[in-house]
Amino acid sequence: MTAQTPSDKDRVVIFDTTLRDGEQCPGATMTHDEKLEVAELLDRMGVDVIEAGFPIASEGDFAAVHEIAKRAKNAVICGLSRAAPKDIDRCAEAIKPAPRRRIHTFLSTSPVHMKYKLQKEPHEVYEMVIAQVTRARNHTDDVEWSAEDGTRTEHDFLCRCVEAAIKAGATTINIPDTVGYTVPEEYYALFKMLRERVANADKAVFSAHCHNDLGMAVANSLAAAKAGVRQIECTVNGIGERAGNAALEEIVMAIRTRSDVLPFWTGIDTTMLTRASKLVSAATSFPVQYNKAIVGRNAFAHESGIHQDGMLKNAQTYEIMTPESVGVKQTSLVMGKHSGRHAFMHKLEELGYKLAGNQLEDAFLRLKALADRKKHIYDEDIEALVDEEIATAQDRIKLVSLTVIAGTMGPQSATLTLDVDGRHQTVQASGNGPVDAIFNGIKTLVPHEAVLELFQVHAVTEGTDAQAEVSVRLAQGDHAVTSRGADPDTLVASAKAYLGALNKLMARGARMHAQHAAQ
Ligand code: KIV
Ligand code: ZN
Repeated sequence: MTAQTPSDKDRVVIFDTTLRDGEQCPGATMTHDEKLEVAELLDRMGVDVIEAGFPIASEGDFAAVHEIAKRAKNAVICGLSRAAPKDIDRCAEAIKPAPRRRIHTFLSTSPVHMKYKLQKEPHEVYEMVIAQVTRARNHTDDVEWSAEDGTRTEHDFLCRCVEAAIKAGATTINIPDTVGYTVPEEYYALFKMLRERVANADKAVFSAHCHNDLGMAVANSLAAAKAGVRQIECTVNGIGERAGNAALEEIVMAIRTRSDVLPFWTGIDTTMLTRASKLVSAATSFPVQYNKAIVGRNAFAHESGIHQDGMLKNAQTYEIMTPESVGVKQTSLVMGKHSGRHAFMHKLEELGYKLAGNQLEDAFLRLKALADRKKHIYDEDIEALVDEEIATAQDRIKLVSLTVIAGTMGPQSATLTLDVDGRHQTVQASGNGPVDAIFNGIKTLVPHEAVLELFQVHAVTEGTDAQAEVSVRLAQGDHAVTSRGADPDTLVASAKAYLGALNKLMARGARMHAQHAAQ
């Protein structure tokens, strides 16, 4: 069999919307710096288009898109906008510094969205499509138009809107399955129908954007590629509204592993997939499901005796792709008490981190402190430690010390010292268990209205001295944030996670306050 040379017509453009649709999901808020770090990694990984945010949504969104646009090296930087002229203009301003930039403008076309959400007649929507694309084209010649709720749109009307959008200058046409309703055969047929019936269909690239409400986002996206779609919109770890979006790593590895039935290719460096997953998980504090395809911690683990036996004889017995191809390295003992700065820096580089100055020094001190308490330090320990260092660098409240009295004789209590804006404050609090006592103490020192929505503990590595990683979600009004803390002591990790979430809420409160003051 002769190897096929990949041709441009089979290349699937990977459009990553982790920073827009992904960040939009409840609790997945990222800080400005976290967004920059994620964007930089996506760019290095070979993502073709990075949807960096929704610039009109807030000053914070605008600033992040603008900064990502300034730093972009290879990827096209894209911003989202509704059909309103001021949305489109604001989006154009945000992406302006990028060497390659795109405006993505969308409008609902389904009967239910037009009637209840837009409260407009189809002929008005049709005119708005032409106006929004025309306005976007005046800013840049790379314009994507999306028919929101496209999979529930009447075909005749969808064809008319798509034709009008292309005529007005749209270069990419996206038909989202906004509510995760379609199935592979139906989505395939929808694109086939559009490519056959829309007279100017050959003047634009068609794009798939699938939500995972019925668990078919990836299958639907791949069916779309078979129907001629050459852009797939996806997110790292599949994060996104409700059940999420199609997962980038699954799309890319399905195309790579099953090129016999999916004869396409992408420009993604797949060895960076695990790193991207970990970074997004740390930035959003959304844990990755253990059995998640490609990047879950069990994705390459073989537990049963029969499987282990097969693997020892030949890895192909139970592995359809190698762990190395997605950047999984065998967990190795990496550092200890006596490891030096140089070895630590080298390790960080290997794990994909770039720390310098105070941040590097602080991370190194944390490593030393950890090595005093934990015998074996693994890659996962270092990742947990550095992710926490990055997340807490600008925190207003920091944990100074914690002593807890726990056990069968209640009430359990905690003595807690916090550094709040540079001042040390101490409190003793009791509660229904040690974690409750700690959280009560934090509430006494930093009064707040936020409600605890999630508290989850898991071990970073194996063994009784393993670091515990705790996730906490706090909600205030209709906004929720999640944060993680890691420490060999589960209670210290709990305090760190709670403070992390509180710091995120406070940072957001300060941003909103500044925005109101500026208006
Ligand atoms: O799901 C959706 O319809 C979207 C559009 C804004 C593209 O995210
Ligand atoms: Zn979406």
